[in-house]
Amino acid sequence: MSEERQRVSRRQFLNYTLTGVGGFMAAGMIVPMLRMAVDPVLKATDSGGFTNVKLAVDDITTTPKRVDWTIDQVDAWYESEVSKSAWVFKDDKGKIVALSPICKHLGCVVTWEGDDKFKNEFYCPCHGGRYYKDGTNVPHTPPNAPLDYYEQKVKDGMLYLGNTIER
Ligand code: FES
Repeated sequence: MSEERQRVSRRQFLNYTLTGVGGFMAAGMIVPMLRMAVDPVLKATDSGGFTNVKLAVDDITTTPKRVDWTIDQVDAWYESEVSKSAWVFKDDKGKIVALSPICKHLGCVVTWEGDDKFKNEFYCPCHGGRYYKDGTNVPHTPPNAPLDYYEQKVKDGMLYLGNTIER
């Protein structure tokens, strides 16, 4: 009788030990996964995602000017510095326009009057893509969509740019 009780006790001990070790190992795998999923949501974000691109509104003319800046990007555990660019100018009504320089064909970078043959246009050197000054793609050239534009705001006379928006 006592021998049988002892055998059951050993079995219970083994069950408890294996359950404990298994639970510990499962927690070791699940907790980091949960933290990775929830952590970015709990982190504080910057001021609405807008960045001061160090361009005074008074210095913006009707001629597109390229501005470059960097943002800190946090992607779960990976933090990196990302370069951004925009072509900024004032339209005929004095409204500030900030266009993405990323060509909508295959992602090359467009330049203002990048080809002498096409004045007053953005030009993509990769496959001869062309855009009018307002970012609209010139028909019968490779791009089939207008350039994206940046969200923008003005604070203390300086231009702040946010995310790009597709048209
Ligand atoms: S990537 Fe610009 S025209 Fe092809």
